[in-house]
Amino acid sequence: MVSWKMEKRVFADARMMLMMCGIGVMVMAMGKLPLISAQWECGNVWGVYMQCDRYVRREGPTVQPSPGCCNALESSNVTCLCPYFAQHEDTYSIDKVIYVLNYCGTPLASGTKCGNYTAP
Ligand SMILES: *[C@@H]1O[C@H](CO)[C@@H](O)[C@H](O)[C@H]1NC(C)=O
Ligand SMILES: *[C@@H]1O[C@H](CO)[C@@H](O)[C@H](O)[C@H]1NC(C)=O
Repeated sequence: MVSWKMEKRVFADARMMLMMCGIGVMVMAMGKLPLISAQWECGNVWGVYMQCDRYVRREGPTVQPSPGCCNALESSNVTCLCPYFAQHEDTYSIDKVIYVLNYCGTPLASGTKCGNYTAP
């Protein structure tokens, strides 16, 4: 019979392995996605990528972002994120980024540069 203590350790090990696996997959995915190569210090980068990507992509009409996207932006440093969108201007539309930021009530601070755009 397996003692309770040992069972707990087995569970902890399994959890650790799952976690490492998850991190590995995430790191691999990050290399492939333009925005996600952005720095972690920008805040909830992953959330912004998952929630906001489709609202700031160049193709397609400009649509109102979801509350989830706004939440992700609120927990991020948009000043810090902006240059990464600008770097990938072939994928992302800065006009849409600005629109989304304003819509979410998280506009860039006055004078902040985002690609060729400077916040008024
Ligand atoms: C946000 O990012 C900018 C640019 O990287 C940095 O100067 C600023 O200190 C950051 N703000 C916060 C609150 O972390
Ligand atoms: C923004 O500036 C870059 C060079 O800094 C230029 O190649 C690009 O065409 C400009 N984009 C727009 C929309 O003006």
